[in-house]
Amino acid sequence: MSDTPPTVAVAYHSGFGHTATLADAVADGARAAGAHVDMVDLGELTDTAWATLDNADAIIFGAPTYMGNISAGFQAFAEQTGRRCTTGAWRDKVAAGFTNSGAKSGDKLTALISLSVFAAQHHMHWVNLGLGPGWNSSAGSEHDLNRLGFWLGAGAQTDVDADRHDVHAADLATFTHLGGRVAQVTAQLTAGRAVTSAA
Ligand SMILES: Cc1cc2nc3c(=O)[nH]c(=O)nc-3n(C[C@H](O)[C@H](O)[C@H](O)COP(=O)(O)O)c2cc1C
Repeated sequence: MSDTPPTVAVAYHSGFGHTATLADAVADGARAAGAHVDMVDLGELTDTAWATLDNADAIIFGAPTYMGNISAGFQAFAEQTGRRCTTGAWRDKVAAGFTNSGAKSGDKLTALISLSVFAAQHHMHWVNLGLGPGWNSSAGSEHDLNRLGFWLGAGAQTDVDADRHDVHAADLATFTHLGGRVAQVTAQLTAGRAVTSAA
């Protein structure tokens, strides 16, 4: 493996803070797995933030589920990437995604699909959650990792009237897992590229 840690950007939109808290958990997981992590709040996009995204080895996208899909705040960002999309600026970066909603289901899968299609349009390599479903047997509980049973990415549920930091502990652990998995896959990919380009 290369001595240079992979760089992972966590690019998220959050209207009321819940998804931002979960984004911090994703970042914690990536850091614990050895990555250099930058947070990009898509509500405050600057030239520096765009450079961070352009230079990252991996971008983990996060959006709350609003009206059964990614939030308008995230989609506004996505539409601003059109030129990068056509020039392939983010081609072959690693990507993953997460979402959060008020209802237990809340049609979150649609939001994860939208994030993965967005990554595919940029020719990025999508990393799935890598966990089996929790809370799906008589031995399970809401405290299980991946308690809401997603495969495509990480999904959380937060009561609509909860404080911005009052997200479920199992969701925090699940999102931390996603960050760690992306950091690990990115390290493997960058190490493999170094080997193949040296050969
Ligand atoms: C405009 C709007 C639309 C929403 N649509 C949904 C929805 O389709 N499904 C759902 O379960 N929750 C929905 N919610 C609830 C949010 O997903 C939930 O409050 C979430 O925790 C907000 O995350 P945030 O604090 O990062 O913005 C909606 C909230 C808003 C403001």
